[in-house]
This record gives sequence, structure tokens and C-alpha cells, in this order.
Amino acid sequence: MGHGGRARASQWLGFIRAAREEGLIDGIGLSNVSRRQLLRAVAQAEIVCVQNLFNLADQRSRDVLTECEARHIAFVPFCPLGWPGEVRRRLLADPVLAALAARLGATPVQVALAWLLHLAPNILLIPGTRTRAHLAENLGAADVRLDDAARAELTRHFPAAKEAAP
Ligand SMILES: NC(=O)c1ccc[n+]([C@@H]2O[C@H](COP(=O)([O-])OP(=O)(O)OC[C@H]3O[C@@H](n4cnc5c(N)ncnc54)[C@H](OP(=O)(O)O)[C@@H]3O)[C@@H](O)[C@H]2O)c1
Repeated sequence: MGHGGRARASQWLGFIRAAREEGLIDGIGLSNVSRRQLLRAVAQAEIVCVQNLFNLADQRSRDVLTECEARHIAFVPFCPLGWPGEVRRRLLADPVLAALAARLGATPVQVALAWLLHLAPNILLIPGTRTRAHLAENLGAADVRLDDAARAELTRHFPAAKEAAP
């Protein structure tokens, strides 16, 4: 972000902070921010939540998640099942994920969501769905226990530095 962009972001944060001081909003959240942008924002205002793209197949916001955890800021991983379309299809059809899900008596979706729930205490998971069947499946992720071997396998197969396929 250039100087103009930084100045606009700082001005925007000033307005939002004033709105919070007036009692118009409860807490300030950010979306699609880099770690650097987050650090600039926390120097100006109290930030309670960050919402960034984050899932097994795309962990580029790992540094933002870590920074949020250290600062007790909630982190909402949007698209927790992967970016809609081919990326999501490929993730949910991944053979390693499927085999692991079968071993744990869960579905690939539930393992992908459980991995997020186990990753850090500040993760707030809100996978959107229009169907009751998916809602029930997603809620079931809370009951999936990932043992050490399962977590190690996911870390090996979906390394943090790996970027989402185009
Ligand atoms: N800040 C941003 O830039 C940004 C970007 C994206 C999203 N968001 C927000 O973040 C929140 C969560 O976003 P999201 O991506 O999780 O929700 P979303 O955008 O509503 O999309 C969820 C998608 O996953 C599918 N899905 C859900 N459960 C599934 C399951 N069990 N099996 C297969 N497919 C399933 C849904 O399809 P079905 O309806 O068929 O289940 C839907 O296509 C929302 O409030 C959204 O508005 C913010």
C-alpha cells in the first residue's frame, strides 16, 4: 500500500474510532489485511477481529493469525473450505484428506473445519451454508478430535507456505 493508501486507511480508522467512542459500534474489525497493515491499525485503535482468507489449501495469512493470537484478537478464516470453485473442489476431493476423514469417522469437510478449530484458540469459525444438511455436517466438526498423527499428516500434506492453486 502506498503513502496515499496508508493515509486513507489511517483516516478511515480515525472515523471508525470516533464512531466507537460515540457508542455507535461495539468493536472494530478489519478484513483482508496483511500483518503490516494490522500492526499499523493496532497502533491507532483497538482491533477486536480480523477476517482473512484462510484454509488448509491457502495459509498465506498464517502470520496474521499468529499476530492476532498473540494480541488476543479474534481471527475469522473466510472460505474455510477453500476458495469457491475449483480450489474448493480439489481440496474436498483430496485423497489424503479423504483417507484421514475415513480413519476418524468424519467427512473431509469436517476434518478441514476441525483443523481450523484446533489450530488456535482465537479462531472464530462461521462457514456459510444454504442447506440444513451442510449445516449439520459443519456443526459435527466440533466433535472431531484430531490426534497428533492426524495433525502431523495435515501439516505435511498442506504445508503452511503452500499457496492456493490458481
Ligand atoms: N471479508 C471478505 O472478504 C469475505 C469474503 C468471503 C466471505 N466472507 C464472509 O465470511 C463468512 C463466511 O464465509 P464462507 O466463505 O464460509 O461462507 P460463504 O461465502 O457463505 O460460502 C460458503 C460456501 O461453502 C459451501 N459449504 C458450506 N458447508 C459445506 C459443506 N458441508 N459441504 C460442501 N460445501 C459447503 C456453501 O455451499 P452451500 O450453501 O451449498 O452449503 C457455500 O458455497 C460469511 O459471513 C461471508 O460473508 C467475507
